[in-house]
This record gives sequence, C-alpha cells and structure tokens, in this order.
Amino acid sequence: MNTAMDSSIIIKGIGAYTPDRVLTNSDLAHMVDTSDEWIQSRTGIKERRIAADNESCSDMATKAAEKAIKNAGLTAQDIDMIIVATITPDMPFPSTACLVQKQLGISPIPCFDVEAACSGFLYILDIASSMLKTGNYKNALIIGAEKLSSILDWEDRSTCVLFGDGAGAAVLSISDCANVGIIGTRLAANGNDAKILYMPGGGSTCPASVQSINDRQHYLKMLGKEVFKSAVKVMEQSTIDMLREYNLNADEISCFIPHQANIRIIESFSTRMKIPMERIPVNLDRYGNTSAASIPLALDEALNNNKIKNGDYVLMIAFGAGLTWASTLLKWHC
Ligand code: UT7
Repeated sequence: MNTAMDSSIIIKGIGAYTPDRVLTNSDLAHMVDTSDEWIQSRTGIKERRIAADNESCSDMATKAAEKAIKNAGLTAQDIDMIIVATITPDMPFPSTACLVQKQLGISPIPCFDVEAACSGFLYILDIASSMLKTGNYKNALIIGAEKLSSILDWEDRSTCVLFGDGAGAAVLSISDCANVGIIGTRLAANGNDAKILYMPGGGSTCPASVQSINDRQHYLKMLGKEVFKSAVKVMEQSTIDMLREYNLNADEISCFIPHQANIRIIESFSTRMKIPMERIPVNLDRYGNTSAASIPLALDEALNNNKIKNGDYVLMIAFGAGLTWASTLLKWHC
C-alpha cells in the first residue's frame, strides 16, 4: 500500500515578491565611502530592493505566498501549515508565520518561524517535507522573507552594500507520482563560527538599552573574509556529498541554484566544480543578498526563464549565519 511516507513531495507552486524601491550602488556612494566600481568588482551587485518604511517582513511574505498559492492552483484555505524562514521577523513574537496566516485569512493551522539565516529556506523545505510525510497535512506554505534593510548599519560600508529585501514562497504538496520532487535534503551547522556573522543586540544577552544603541549592537556584524572562505568550502563539499549520495555527476544536474551572496563565491564554485555558469542562475546583481529569500527568488526566476524543464535535476545550495549550510536535490515535475 502506498503511504504518505513513500509519496513524493513536490513544489506545486512558487511565488516571489520584491519591493519597488531600487537602491543603486551610485545611491550608496552618496551615503558611505564606497563606489559602484568597488561594489560590482568585489560582489557583482549593481542594485538591491529596499522595502517601504511601512512594509513589513510579513507583508512581503504574504505577497509572495499569494502568488505561490495561485501558481499551485489552490486557494488559501487549502494550506494546512505555514513556516517562515527569516532573521528579520516583524517582531520577536508572535511568529511572522502567524502574521502571514492572519493576512491570508486562513483558519487555525500550525504556523511557526525558523531561524537559519541564508540557509533558512532549505531548512523549512526539509521540515515541511517531513511533516507532509506524516500524512497529517496536504499542502505546506513555506516562505523565505527578509527586511534586512531594518538591521543594516547604514554607516558601515563593509556590510550595508551587500544586502536587500524580498520574499520567495513555495507550496509543497504530496504527489502520487514516484521519484519526483524533493529527492533529498542535507542540513548542517557549526555553532563554533557563530560570531563571524551575527547581530549582538536585541536578544536576551543584550536587550535594548541606551548603551546597546550607542554601541550599535542592533545591527548585523560580519567578518566578510571568514564567511567567504567557509562559503566556498561548504558549497563545494555539500555538492560533492549530494552528488555522491545519489550517484549523479555534475553534468546530470541541469540547474544549480546557489545562495546569492557574492558573484565571486559563485564563480569560484563554478570553476572548482567545472560547472558552466550557464547552469547557475544569478540574480544578486539586481537584488543583492536577500538571505532566506535568495534561493526561492532565484528558483522562481529560473522557472520563469525556462531554465528548468520537467525531468531536470536541480540542486540548491545555501550557507549563512550559524554557520548553517544546506543542500536540496529536486527532480522537476509538472
Ligand atoms: O549570506 C552569507 C553572508 N555573507 C557573505 O557571504 C559574504 C561573504 N564575504 C564577501 O562577500 C566579501 O568578503 C566582502 C564583499 C564582504 C568583502 O570583500 P573582500 O574582497 O573580502 O574585501 P575586504 O573585506 O578584504 O576589504 C578590502 C578593502 C578594505 O580596505 P583596506 O583595508 O584594504 O584598505 C576595506 O576597508 O575594501 C574596503 N572596503 C570597501 N571599500 C569600498 C570594504 N567595504 C567597502 C566598500 N566600498 N563598500
């Protein structure tokens, strides 16, 4: 007998949202001591989107979710679980997922957030898949959403030029077809590297105070070079491990979707793994690093640009604060 445990979990629908406001490198050059030339040559970023002051993480998440639900051919009432990956929730509690549920007008279902930074979308994809496999749920809404502009130090040129706002969502559903959809996900973290990318203030060890504000503790801090080195290493190793585990070689993967942090990280991955850049979609030039939203935004764009066809293998690879990293192998489907 076929049970939910044996069923395939597919991405039934996908949706993306980015705010209208564009912040270019030249705009940034008027704000801090930087230049379009430095930002483009060191990162590949040309511009990023910045949410409106009154636009929250849950607002962006809801807009992406509405598109994903429509794209799946479902209505909001068909959703029976919402998980949001974010490091910029509307507030510490309640979860952004609960606020999205309210905006979508969905009756009581499980809703919660997961904090795994830029790896967050692949973390929630694995959590939702496992929950679907219990047979207790049919359609899970997963969303990577970030308003990073709210935690950037706009006086720190080493970080404020790198990030942007946006949201990407997917509806995961059980499919009767065998061997399609999510083939496997591997999640990992190494807390020893917690302080190479973090925000010291605002939690229980450093609650907000006049001192914490004066010390600029409520902003993202990063040792860029350290993150860069780890990113190159874990992206390559995750890919090698995933290919070995499923007995595939890199040529059999039609599309690699890496976390969009820096074009030099992606190009280094391409060179070391001998994977042509044509098979690696890039959108960081237009959106910068959108953390948990980066992979679903890139996946949505790759599908819209017909870079993924039925039967194609797709490998998504993420890394971020924690440090966390993750990879997911998909076989695309109708
Ligand atoms: O999602 C995961 C999170 N993040 C990442 O994946 C980021 C990973 N790291 C990186 O992408 C790169 O390390 C950065 C883009 C952050 C920095 O690039 P880099 O080539 O490692 O530069 P650097 O930090 O070594 O800085 C080189 C120089 C320094 O000046 P000096 O000391 O050589 O005189 C910096 O002060 O560039 C200077 N600099 C800037 N100059 C102009 C740093 N930021 C800027 C800037 N504009 N925005």
